[in-house]
Amino acid sequence: MTVSASFAAPRLMQIAGGAVRQTAEILAKFGLSRPLVVSDPVMVSTGLVNRVLDPLTAAGMAPALFADTVSDPTDTVVEAGVAAMRRGQFDCLVGFGGGSPIDTAKAMAILAAAEPTAKMRDFKAPAQADRGAVPVIAIPTTAGTGSECTRFTVITDSERDEKMLIAGLGALPLAAIVDYELTFTVPPRTTADTGIDSLTHALEAYVSKRANPFSDALAVSAMGLIGRWLRIACAEPRNEAAREGMMLGATQAGLAFSNASVALVHGMSRPIGAHFHVPHGLSNAMLLPAVTAYSRSGAPERYAEAARRIGFAAAADGDDAAGIKLLTGLAGWNRDLAVPSPAAFGIDPAAWEAKLALMAEQALASGSPANNPRVPDAGEIVALYRAVWSGAPVNF
Ligand SMILES: NC(=O)c1ccc[n+]([C@@H]2O[C@H](COP(=O)([O-])OP(=O)(O)OC[C@H]3O[C@@H](n4cnc5c(N)ncnc54)[C@H](O)[C@@H]3O)[C@@H](O)[C@H]2O)c1
Ligand SMILES: [Fe+2]
Repeated sequence: MTVSASFAAPRLMQIAGGAVRQTAEILAKFGLSRPLVVSDPVMVSTGLVNRVLDPLTAAGMAPALFADTVSDPTDTVVEAGVAAMRRGQFDCLVGFGGGSPIDTAKAMAILAAAEPTAKMRDFKAPAQADRGAVPVIAIPTTAGTGSECTRFTVITDSERDEKMLIAGLGALPLAAIVDYELTFTVPPRTTADTGIDSLTHALEAYVSKRANPFSDALAVSAMGLIGRWLRIACAEPRNEAAREGMMLGATQAGLAFSNASVALVHGMSRPIGAHFHVPHGLSNAMLLPAVTAYSRSGAPERYAEAARRIGFAAAADGDDAAGIKLLTGLAGWNRDLAVPSPAAFGIDPAAWEAKLALMAEQALASGSPANNPRVPDAGEIVALYRAVWSGAPVNF
């Protein structure tokens, strides 16, 4: 086998229950002492943000807080964050929260390194966002996006209603602090949505045309962990083993897709999020069974192996039987986790239909569908969007 791969990861990943208490020591290792913590209003109202502020304050680092981030962060919020950065003398950003605050911190570092007239959309993929003004330390509080260890940030262009993928080393955190104890309070709906996001990262990295032996090893491990623990974490929020397994799986899946890519599910999911404000993991879940059914013929062995790793199929199942069990397994999870169809979510049918051509165009422009084992054209993407509308099982 000849391998040609490039692998990027944070310089340091501190992974343990309670690791957030080491935040000040980790900053000090890199000579950093003037952090701006980037978080969201829920982290403040629940007091969770004190889990990172307290150790920083105790170490005499006087952290400042920018807590105005929103779910599915927008370019306007990033601009407000950069203005907050310019009001102080900060030497790093600490992204604390789900993917949204972490992505906001990454985008702030990228925008602050650019000319004052620059806009977030100047960095939209395929542009490369390789420079950040200051390093980012990422501390996830959901087991989901893997943003703590990816070279991506996803920012909504508020004028064009487009969720832009921004890629480059400027979006890769310097350090990730991965502490599953921060996830005990994640509500069941968000646990399910973020967990399916992680599974989609692992599965798409594994079937991606850009998979390599390093991303494969992480994707396979992540599928095993998420397959074992997702439903338990949803049913038993205080289950330590389940929360830890999900956090490890989410981080491994993040490393896998950051170094392989996501594919058609994510390409189609971002426009649903941008136009209809469906949470990211939920729009992935709505698409996952149908897009997998469509894609399976492009990599039948890989989809079959994924089914075995997740636990839907047995080791002895042949590729065809395992592939079919993957489809029924994913549909079963959506039922168990009460994933609504777009129709049941409450999206207006006329608005959905009116946006489909634009959504297909935006999906293709993101580049993600080109990494899928079976590459659709715009017409096929529209057909897939129509197929998932009611949530009825589809076959391709
Ligand atoms: N950068 C990447 O590589 C990458 C990958 C996938 C997704 N994303 C992006 O990440 C964003 C989604 O991130 P997310 O799914 O983590 O959701 P989120 O950050 O928007 O959080 C969802 C909700 O859960 C709450 N929450 C978070 N942690 C909690 C906790 N411990 N206890 C109680 N409530 C908590 C938040 O306050 C928020 O209300 C989307 O914009 C998506 O496009 C980025
Ligand atoms: Fe995702």
